[in-house]
Order: sequence, then C-alpha cells, then structure tokens
Amino acid sequence: MGSPESQTQCSSSTMAKHALRNRASLCFSDGCLFLGGVLMALLLVWSFSSFASPPTSIPSETLASSSSAAAAAAEGPPQCAPVAAPPRDSEQSGNFYDDPELSYSIGRPVRGWDGKRQEWLRQHPSLASGGGRERVLLVTGSQPSPCKNKIGDHLLLRFFKNKVDYCRLHGCDVFYNNVLLQPQMFSYWAKYPVVRAAMLAHPEAEWIWWVDSDALFTDMDFEPPLDRYKGYNLVVHGWRDLIYEKKSWTSINAGVFLIRNCQWSMDFMDVWAGTGPQSPEYERWGHVLSSTFADKLFPESDDQSALVYLLLTQKDRYGNKIYVESDYYFEGYWEEILGTLPNITREYEDTERRGPQALRRRHAEKASGYYAARRAEAAGAARKRPFVTHFTGCQPCSGAYNQMYSGESCWNGMVKALNFADNQVLRRYGYVRPDLMDSAVVKPIPFDYPAGGGGGGGG
Ligand SMILES: *[C@@H]1O[C@H](CO)[C@@H](O)[C@H](O)[C@H]1NC(C)=O
Repeated sequence: MGSPESQTQCSSSTMAKHALRNRASLCFSDGCLFLGGVLMALLLVWSFSSFASPPTSIPSETLASSSSAAAAAAEGPPQCAPVAAPPRDSEQSGNFYDDPELSYSIGRPVRGWDGKRQEWLRQHPSLASGGGRERVLLVTGSQPSPCKNKIGDHLLLRFFKNKVDYCRLHGCDVFYNNVLLQPQMFSYWAKYPVVRAAMLAHPEAEWIWWVDSDALFTDMDFEPPLDRYKGYNLVVHGWRDLIYEKKSWTSINAGVFLIRNCQWSMDFMDVWAGTGPQSPEYERWGHVLSSTFADKLFPESDDQSALVYLLLTQKDRYGNKIYVESDYYFEGYWEEILGTLPNITREYEDTERRGPQALRRRHAEKASGYYAARRAEAAGAARKRPFVTHFTGCQPCSGAYNQMYSGESCWNGMVKALNFADNQVLRRYGYVRPDLMDSAVVKPIPFDYPAGGGGGGGG
C-alpha cells in the first residue's frame, strides 16, 4: 500500500457557493432569432480571445452579457435579461497550471496542493469569497458507448436531469463525464480519475460531490449539512458498527461521496485507488479484501471494500477525517425507500393542507429555499423525504441487474422515484404528474393546492 507523504490537515476555508447568478436570457421576439448569428460570432471571438487571455469567469455569463448588449444595440430596448457584471479576475501571474510536471492522473501525486489552491484563490477573489457558503461541484458520468439496455440511455438521461435540477435549485456546478479517463480504471474505479481531475479543474470548489449515475435526489429541498463536516475531508453513507463490529463490505456505500478539495484527499485517493486495477497490487488486494470480508462474494478488489478496509485497519490514520453519515439518506438503498414514497407524499400533502397558507403559495423556483424552510417548520418531527435514492444492483445502462431483483422492479422503481422527484420540480412550473408510473401525463396544479381540492403527486 502506498503511503502519503504528509497528513496535511485541510484548510476548511469557506467560499462562496455561487456568487455568479445564472442570468437566463428569455427571448420571445423575432429579434432574438437574429441573435443566433451574433451569438455564433461572439462565441468564435470569445474562443479565439481565450487563447490570448483565458477568461476567468464562466462562459455563459460572458455570452449572456454580450448577447444582450448586441440586442440592445440592434433592436432598441433589450428584451432579454439584464447584463451581468463583466468578469473581474485576471491571470496576474503564474500558478499551478503553469507547472509542466502537473498531472491530472491518479498515480502521479500532486504536492503542496493546499498552498497552490490558496494561491489560485488569491488570484481569483471573485471565485473565492462571498456569503460564507462552500462551493460544491457535483461530478457524475456514464460509459462512452450506447447502453445495452434498450431503455438505459433514457433512464440515464432522466437521472442526469434530476441532478441538473437539483443543482439549479441549490447552486452547485455539475460535471458529467462519459469517457474512461484512465482506461484501466473501469467500472466503479472510473470515478477516481474523474474526481482527481475535477479537483484540479475546479480549485474554486471546496467539495467534489461524486454521485453515481444510478442515484437520484428524491428530496429536491434538502441540502447536506456541510457545517457538520467542517473537520472532515470525506463523507460517505454508512454505519460505524457495521464497519467495526460486523466487518461488512456493505457497511458503507461508495457510490455517493463528498470529498474536500485538498491535499489530504489527493493523498487518500492515491492510497484508496491504489487498490484498483491500474495497480500492480490489484490481485493481492483482491485476496486481502476477500479474506477480510466474509460477505464479499466476488474475488476482485473493489473500491468500497477498500474504503471499509482502510477504515478498519487504519482508523487512527484516516478515521478522524472520514465522516460516516447515518442520520439521513446521504445515500439510500432503493428497496428500502420505494415502498415509503406513497405515504411520504400523503404526509407532505397533509402538512401543506393543514399548515399556513405560505405552504400552498405559488412561488418562483429561485425562492424555493424559503418555502422549504417554512414547510420544514410546519412539519416538525414528521418523516422527511429520503434525500438520495440509489438503485444499487440495478445497472440501468447494461441491464445486467443483480439476479436477486426482477428487472421489472428495478425499472419500475426508477420510473417511480424519478417521477416522485420530478413532481417536486414540476410543481414550481405549475404542473404535476398524478400517476408516478405514467411519465407522459401531467395536470395543472390548482390554486391553493392541496387545500382547494384535487389530488396530485400521488403514488
Ligand atoms: C402507509 O400508511 C398507512 C395508513 O396510515 C399504513 O396502514 C401503512 O402501513 C403505511 N405503509 C407503509 C409502507 O408505511
């Protein structure tokens, strides 16, 4: 096993999650058709000029401001959204990106990352500060080729839409990767090269949030309590007693995790992923893990067993920086969750029917946080929606689901969970799917719903 050079404690500097606002350009007139050409031209100008001096703000902001400025010049009063402030950052001097030795790959250690990242943040103050919220980059992905399961690509699209919806509501950025960055690291190993590269590509992000392609947010209002994880660098769902007493390889789940963008994480991932197929030790790790976990029924080394193993055998070294979350469904097993959705739907509706009028008030999607907090107050100790539902063992893309489930229950379960989540989104757009098994049918939500009669969003 490799050993990290240092046990650097990561700084937990707080950074703005999202200072940049998305300024949607809504164009309704013919004037905006002409914008297509202008936009294209601007894109070209932007992409050429970006070689000379890299833009340090997100391109969409640049586009929004340029396009609405063009509209103003050509068409009189702009019909699109107001112009965003121009990017203020500039590359004053070199930073870690200029180091020819820097590698984005697992197995090529990065040194002094905390200092390098701090320096970059100092150079880009608008990306580093504001509001005391930590920036989060959600990272997910799938295979490069079409799915074998004939509804696989459709399901993956819906799982991805769910993540985009969640991040639009909560201000995280999303990166979807669909190529093996390090081809030897296939299957569940594929996430580590992506997470590693994302850390370097997003020094502004305090946390990288890996979410498997077959996991979805089933509570669109909830946010992970990042304050709770202040002293920690890795957050996974699981149960401590199952790790230390039962020694089970399923005592945690490695399909969803938050990892702090810092040196500790770089070092830990080198050790963790060092048990993978790209390592000469891969076979040996297979033996070690299989002989440690009686309930592990396949001989190959896997990342989840490796994480449990590191917690078990090097608790002093790593355990104090890894938070094992079991208070809420940071990641939840779908079979345990699916059956609870109909009653949860009903309980939420009861709260809304009986609670203050604010719980039934229509509101802008951007104002959702306020209303979610009001509902949480009114609901008191009532059961909450499961935060993340993970279709472990279902394999939507390959279709090669675990034989202990029937394919039907996997696919139907996914449709049900996806529509359960999507109803929370659609509601802000005035509609709801009355039948969770019928993805194609919506109906308008009546005023003062659910007090004013008319069911909806059922299960
Ligand atoms: C749902 O609620 C009903 C009525 O309270 C109860 O009888 C039923 O057992 C509940 N179902 C589940 C799965 O909790």
